[in-house]
Amino acid sequence: MKIAIMASEGAPYVKSGGLGDVMEALPSALSRIEGNEVVLLLPYYQKILKNEAYEVEQVACFDVALGWRQQYAGVYRLKNRSDSVQVYFIDNLYYFGDRGGAIYGDPDDGERFAYFSKACLDTLLHIDFIPDVIQCNDWQTSLVPVYLKSLYAPHFPRTKCMFTIHNIEYQGWADGYFFDDVLGLPESSRERLDMGGSVNCMKGGIETADLVTTVSESYARELMYPYYAHGMDSVLAGNAGKLTGITNGIDVNTFNPETDPALRAHYNAQTLTKGKASCKKRLQQEVGLPQRADVPLLVMVTRLAGHKGLDLLCYIARRLLLEEDCQLLILGTGEQHFQDFFLFLQQEFPDRVSAKITFDLALASRIYAGGDIYLMPSKSEPCGLSQMNAMRYGTIPVVHATGGLKDTVPPVDAEGEGGLGFTFQSYNADDFLGALKRCLHLYKDDPAKFRALQRKCMRQDFSWDKPAGKYMELFQKMINS
Ligand code: GLC
Repeated sequence: MKIAIMASEGAPYVKSGGLGDVMEALPSALSRIEGNEVVLLLPYYQKILKNEAYEVEQVACFDVALGWRQQYAGVYRLKNRSDSVQVYFIDNLYYFGDRGGAIYGDPDDGERFAYFSKACLDTLLHIDFIPDVIQCNDWQTSLVPVYLKSLYAPHFPRTKCMFTIHNIEYQGWADGYFFDDVLGLPESSRERLDMGGSVNCMKGGIETADLVTTVSESYARELMYPYYAHGMDSVLAGNAGKLTGITNGIDVNTFNPETDPALRAHYNAQTLTKGKASCKKRLQQEVGLPQRADVPLLVMVTRLAGHKGLDLLCYIARRLLLEEDCQLLILGTGEQHFQDFFLFLQQEFPDRVSAKITFDLALASRIYAGGDIYLMPSKSEPCGLSQMNAMRYGTIPVVHATGGLKDTVPPVDAEGEGGLGFTFQSYNADDFLGALKRCLHLYKDDPAKFRALQRKCMRQDFSWDKPAGKYMELFQKMINS
């Protein structure tokens, strides 16, 4: 099968969050399936262009028509990729040049990603790759099916398109005039993008794609409710027959405690006790916490954003620290008030709390390895990857039973049996604290059972093999339709 994947980010080249991880592992997993040819298209952000590790050759150059604009596009093929995925970067310094290092958040994001979506289809024509299916991701590439089914239909008469929602909060809103001024689409597409007189790019993707997926089964169900859907519930309800959830995997080669180059000690499920103790000791030293082997180390690696459930943690943090002997370590950047809160907490409890307000992938790995308990009280979570990373490194998750957290962390009882982690049902700080305390008590009162649970987490199959198979089934379903 010929598969073209399009996204605004993809690790290891460029990553701001989970989408970047998925765009590293999913194309690779699909390319390992016999008979598949996989092409991945990404913007050539300046930081990729400047990275000398990536050897490229220019394979095409043309203009993209965007309303009244004609915008340059240079297409560069990556020469040194270790698997069979063909990666192409689309170059235009006006849209993807130095923007203060960030990849999103500019007032012209709508135009930038409309350009990218259209340039992707032009690229396929120039490299002569007419795919059986296109898989595109989040609002930044949600215009791909809109263009595909209108202006580009004569060039791609049989190509089917899947649109995948990783984050419904960002939808690509623009003023109504954006449709005429930038998109240059036929009048018949207007209604598909219109939401109360404004343009909503994600709506266009949902309405026009052949199938819509999201990144866990529970989240696909939750999206039918206004509480989760950020205004998109009625659009999704109208397309419910097209919507499926496929729970993400993680890249089990990158996230592997036996080989991870960021770790100073390596281990597997058999050597867990010794390996983790060593990682924990060094982590405590690195982040400025007392090197105590017996104290439970609670950790979190997260964007400091509201929906990650940080308000619950803020609410219970002091109580937790006063009532329980534990250490708390947070890594991440984001909303100022959360950054301030954790820095203050660190000042108040210097021997107990460490707040690392930064983005550091190597430290993240050392935290998954050195921590005992991983906190993820997200208010909503389409899938979530870090709970799986944590489990792969033998760190027990305490999570809110929502979205992908519900699907990947079945609940254990107070004895640590029957599931993989400690969960709470309603989004409430006391319930979160309750789940956390159950976990802490198992840690302290029954170390053997805690160990057994850690080993069980480490032995789970979080690889992309199964999800990639499900994507293939849906691709086939689109082709047959
Ligand atoms: C987004 C979601 C996250 C998901 C990731 C990859 O970042 O918020 O839950 O795991 O995309 O699909």
